[in-house]
Amino acid sequence: MTRTSTSRRTFLKKLAASSAVTAVGTTALGRNHFAIHRTAAPSRVVSPNDKIRIGLVGAGIIGFIDADTALKVPGIEIVAAADVYEARRIRVKEYYGAHVDTYVDYRDLLAREDIDAVLLCVPDHWHSTMSIDAMKAGKAVYCEKPMTRTVAEGLSVVEAAAETGVVFQVGSQQASSILNQKARDLIDAGAIGPVNMVQTNRGRNTSLGAWQYSIPRDASPETLDWDRFLGSAPKRPFEAIRAFRWRNYWDYGTAVAGDIFVHHFTAIHKVTNSIGPTRIQASGGLRYWKDGREVYDIIAGICDYPETENHPGFTLTLATNWVSGGGDLTMFRYVGSEGTIEVDSRGLTLRQVGITDKDEHTPEAVLAGYNSVYTWSEAQREEFAKWFMANRKGPQVAPPMKGETRYDVPDGYDARFDHFANFFHSMRSGTPVFEDAVYGHRAASPANLCNDSYRQKKIMEWDPVEMELLS
Ligand SMILES: NC(=O)c1ccc[n+]([C@@H]2O[C@H](COP(=O)([O-])OP(=O)(O)OC[C@H]3O[C@@H](n4cnc5c(N)ncnc54)[C@H](O)[C@@H]3O)[C@@H](O)[C@H]2O)c1
Repeated sequence: MTRTSTSRRTFLKKLAASSAVTAVGTTALGRNHFAIHRTAAPSRVVSPNDKIRIGLVGAGIIGFIDADTALKVPGIEIVAAADVYEARRIRVKEYYGAHVDTYVDYRDLLAREDIDAVLLCVPDHWHSTMSIDAMKAGKAVYCEKPMTRTVAEGLSVVEAAAETGVVFQVGSQQASSILNQKARDLIDAGAIGPVNMVQTNRGRNTSLGAWQYSIPRDASPETLDWDRFLGSAPKRPFEAIRAFRWRNYWDYGTAVAGDIFVHHFTAIHKVTNSIGPTRIQASGGLRYWKDGREVYDIIAGICDYPETENHPGFTLTLATNWVSGGGDLTMFRYVGSEGTIEVDSRGLTLRQVGITDKDEHTPEAVLAGYNSVYTWSEAQREEFAKWFMANRKGPQVAPPMKGETRYDVPDGYDARFDHFANFFHSMRSGTPVFEDAVYGHRAASPANLCNDSYRQKKIMEWDPVEMELLS
């Protein structure tokens, strides 16, 4: 459990209070979005005509994807990259050009004055340290999710972001997705009534999906700086499997909750205008991928979101199964009393059926349907039928069926591109980012607390306003 000192607490309280308000903002793309939980005005603003020079830290799977996406935004140039593994540094030069300087130590990259922004695409155990170092070096930071691994790390990043005032955005593209904005607009317009439940389900049935990423043939302490990989993690002899499948070990990764659930929390908080749950519990186990990993391959989480002035009370269920024999099954559903919104990768489906008491008016349903009447004696059934027909409320009331409506994003739509465009727009214009450190902390913490609940076998009590773990 993390408790903060009195002065730190006062500081964080002020921060939490100022950032609990959401405001409407306009994005780089000209759409009207809700700007998220602004903490401080960025001090380092790039002129609209200037090129933004970026440095990539961590040239792994998402490092290349993020850098490619960033470079699609006009006016962006990559000038440097840092990685502890040699073949990835070489690959950076092969792919982006020999002019891109590469480093083993990310601090050499941060020391360069000509770099405006860094993309932090490293394993989770490096996120807080590198974010803080980069912010202190005056760089704008795009830090991959989950922002941090613990509440304490999260608070440190929140504090550093507020103190330095640089542009800091967590790389959870859900925050910029037009699909989530559409879901929010529909909910705000009452399309599904008050949200009472959110359900997510994710299944995978492949070894790569279960994080058995390939290990290069030359992996060794000669080609990979193991000490720099470990950082603050416990010292141990080199193990290639840990370096290249770090997600499977608690010292470096955050398991499925930090990897996947955090995207869900980011999306749900945007769509429902929530700052987080108060009770968090999870259970699961390692059932199939017993390759030496420490983390589970199946987990289910339950979170309570009590009513606030921003949203009604609702329950969240999260289930993830890397041993899903039915294939890659994914579901993301907002449920309200008037309908549901199901979000998928290409769009969303709004189903409006509503709650109906039509059965109460129907002799077929009440007297002969799936009801308790048929279990009574003849005499009781007759007496009840007479009473029912004399007292029934009138003709059958049709359910308020409004049908099914589908919204698709345009072909080729990429929320990650929007997220980068919004990040660079913030750097150029000073407008709020779409997922700042406070938002990132409020998304990462419940995800990480799912892990704590699973590992400690207890319900975690979280205060999303004060951003404090209560028990
Ligand atoms: N937003 C998304 O959709 C998304 C998708 C995938 C991954 N991610 C996040 O991105 C991060 C990276 O994931 P990945 O799948 O690309 O991992 P990866 O293992 O493919 O890449 C990580 C890279 O970081 C390097 N590295 C490790 N320690 C380093 C250090 N101290 N200094 C410099 N480089 C270091 C590794 O050598 C490797 O090249 C994770 O936090 C993950 O959660 C986000």
